[in-house]
Amino acid sequence: MGLVLGLESSCDETAAAVLRADGTILAEAVLSQLADHAPFGGVVPEIAARAHLHHLPGLVRRVLDEAGTTPTGLSAVAATAGPGLIGGLIVGATLGKGIAIANRIPYLAINHLEAHALSPRLPSISPEGVARDARGSLAFPYLLLLLSGGHCQCVAVEGVARHRRLGTTLDDAVGEAFDKSAKLLGLPWPGGPHLERLAEGGDATRIPLPRPMLGRAGCDFSFSGLKTAVAQQVAKGLDEQGRRDLAASFQASVAAVLADRAAQALAMVPGATAIVVAGGVAANGAVRAALARVAASAGLALVAPPIRLCTDNAVMVAWAGIERLRAGLTDTLDHAPRPRWPLNELSAKPSPPLMGERVG
Ligand code: KG4
Ligand code: ZN
Repeated sequence: MGLVLGLESSCDETAAAVLRADGTILAEAVLSQLADHAPFGGVVPEIAARAHLHHLPGLVRRVLDEAGTTPTGLSAVAATAGPGLIGGLIVGATLGKGIAIANRIPYLAINHLEAHALSPRLPSISPEGVARDARGSLAFPYLLLLLSGGHCQCVAVEGVARHRRLGTTLDDAVGEAFDKSAKLLGLPWPGGPHLERLAEGGDATRIPLPRPMLGRAGCDFSFSGLKTAVAQQVAKGLDEQGRRDLAASFQASVAAVLADRAAQALAMVPGATAIVVAGGVAANGAVRAALARVAASAGLALVAPPIRLCTDNAVMVAWAGIERLRAGLTDTLDHAPRPRWPLNELSAKPSPPLMGERVG
């Protein structure tokens, strides 16, 4: 296997990357559409689809140039095929299939959640001291906490195409809870990072907030009650220090809940080699610190990919493609993008190569 091209276009980041089979990143590029969506206070699917269509081909040319190769130098192309916004998925998957057909190379339809789940196995990411397999990747099984604006899940990652979702949110995703609470506090979208900054000057003990699901069996989450509690406090009227205190209290509640859920989830992954955190909320210092404590008390490391690889990117898509290729799992060109695609519905059956396909 030589070079693999990865494409990501499932939400509001347009991204492309070229990796060597050993996981070396030769080129990567991400275009955020934040500025396009910010005036609307959230991602607008139609704007996202058009922006992907506009930017993705140029981004592919750029990463191929940077990697010092051309499409004929590729061994495979991996594109996010779900879950996500259907317009963007169609753009990425169709471009990926086109490149695969033109160059007679395998096409890999990547599940975005699996891409996040496998990203800590990039050999360059795992910290010293974690259990590794023969290729230098973090060894299975491990506990993944996927904490983003669209996803909030605890997952047992047991192998390629072998993931067990242990728990999920009953209402809002944790990033959504950050964004909605930040909006209530008068902060711009997306509010997570702004809320974290506001919380720096706050006292987390002055305005007590609920800690939903804390101590409950299982590892599901719920954040809508917390958001309502924030709204009630805001409605009482807050001065500047009050806003900081409320932000700090919200963040402390979320961190405590995530730590509790992570501890419960860890008990469901016997032999876990690490706790891994990914998604935009993994950038939050208080959340990282709380999860690091859970890991440490179990004698494990908290593996947090660098922020650029925690948020949506194409490096993780190319890497998931490499892992699937090694397992003999390619996809046929009639694979239709799936806006909803739970982790337990991944294909784990090797498929026959396409007619005339070059493999290797
Ligand atoms: O993974 P991501 O970039 O995009 C998807 O949702 O797919 O995650 C974005 C989410 C947003 O809700 C954003 O507010 C949140 O991650 N976020 C943060 C921080 N940085 C980003 N939340 C809390 N603290 C942060 N520092
Ligand atoms: Zn994502």
